[in-house]
Amino acid sequence: MSASVSDLRSVFREDLLKGQVALVTGGGTGIGLGISELLAALGAHVVVASRRPAHHEAAVSAIRARGHAASSVALDVRDHAAVHAVVQEVAATHGRLDVLVNNAAGNFYAPSATLSPNAWKSVVEIDLYGTFYCSQAVHPVMKQQGGGRIISTSMTLHYRGWPLMAHATAAKAGVDALTRTLAVEWAPDRIRVNAIAPGPIPTEGVRKAFAPPADSGVPDLFAAAEERMAEYARTGIPLGRWGTPQDIANMVAFLASPAGDWITGAIFVVDGGEWLAKPAP
Ligand code: COA
Repeated sequence: MSASVSDLRSVFREDLLKGQVALVTGGGTGIGLGISELLAALGAHVVVASRRPAHHEAAVSAIRARGHAASSVALDVRDHAAVHAVVQEVAATHGRLDVLVNNAAGNFYAPSATLSPNAWKSVVEIDLYGTFYCSQAVHPVMKQQGGGRIISTSMTLHYRGWPLMAHATAAKAGVDALTRTLAVEWAPDRIRVNAIAPGPIPTEGVRKAFAPPADSGVPDLFAAAEERMAEYARTGIPLGRWGTPQDIANMVAFLASPAGDWITGAIFVVDGGEWLAKPAP
């Protein structure tokens, strides 16, 4: 399992994001927590947003315990009015909002033929609507302050199609399209819009989401046995290891920093080469 971001030496300058404010949705656990931790370690005040207080409160306590700045807010990104209210509150409290990380996502394996309308709606609303609602809400704040960065999480499964993931692959394809469109539309406002497509990262949430039904024939990448995990990393991931939240957080930090000043509308695959090498399911 991955080490905590703060246990690892960052390649970035410690004050890289000093004075900046970042909102990370789903920022209390898994990949989102890694992103929250790194942005805070680089000097940003991080607002950790998630549906469950137990998640965002624990994350904020851990970040503060290391001497970094963070606060938390309960937010379901599917709730348009709540999203706008939270963004207004963050802007009013801090006087700015520099970075939005659309990390909140929901997912599970389910056969398309029997997927209930609510199951479809649930994932598409979290992954796609939530990304749009949050991006739209930060736009006036970022425009008014002279710019900002929006970074969304995507995936690689829709590049070739992936059984039992119609809802998530459709939603993430939408996130890719949204990223490119908003990048062009909001470039005059100096808002850079990019996305990251993570490869397999065995956090608890991802393990839960990517456990296929037993009789589906879809491989369980995160099957419990450690030797199977190690074998998959050796044979299925060209760079020979599983991803960590820090792998994704590093790309977020790069895009949030001035190093990314001329990058917009890009979707970065951060997966150790996995999708290029993965056989069709
Ligand atoms: N297979 C089929 N349908 C499922 C399902 C599964 N594994 N899990 C949830 N659903 C359906 C529910 O049955 C419900 O539909 P229904 O009302 O027709 O029965 C609908 O999806 C919504 O379920 P609910 O439990 O109310 O979910 P939610 O909206 O509160 O949260 C998720 C949705 C996706 C966050 C939640 O299912 C979940 O925790 N998923 C796994 C963890 C995860 O997604 N992690 C993110 C990793 S990328």
